[in-house]
Amino acid sequence: MNKILVLHGPNLNLLGTREPEIYGRTTLYDINAMIAARAKEAGIAVDFLQSNHEGVLVDTLQEVPKKGYAFVILNAAAFTHYSVAIRDAIAAIPTPVIEVHLSNIHQREEFRHHSVISPVVMGQIAGFGEDSYMAALEVVIRRLSEARS
Ligand code: DQA
Repeated sequence: MNKILVLHGPNLNLLGTREPEIYGRTTLYDINAMIAARAKEAGIAVDFLQSNHEGVLVDTLQEVPKKGYAFVILNAAAFTHYSVAIRDAIAAIPTPVIEVHLSNIHQREEFRHHSVISPVVMGQIAGFGEDSYMAALEVVIRRLSEARS
């Protein structure tokens, strides 16, 4: 069975209560449950990890090839905008990574417009709330079914 990793960066553990006017009221638990349900339907196994620590995210990305994940869906949160370490970890692995954001980072403060990880990911989906994750998952499902046929 194909398996994928969904990786959530700093402060995303607070979804539901964190700035709900920007991020909505859906909790991370709910987002993970929605992803798990759709992935199950599509016959894909999913692992989830949330960390507030850059090094944990780097370590986890480094382990991706060894663990055999076919794709990573990554919301690097604030690290998106300045973590060269996370960018380098993505560049170091052959596994495709899809960058997601709940909010449309391009509509927000200037410092959020730039993503240091965008040049090394497969693509970016931003601005659709939890549907950003669900859209990324649909891409994964289509790519994996193309690869099977
Ligand atoms: C975010 C956008 C980032 O700018 C912010 O630091 C986050 C969440 C999003 O999902 O919209 O923590 O990645």
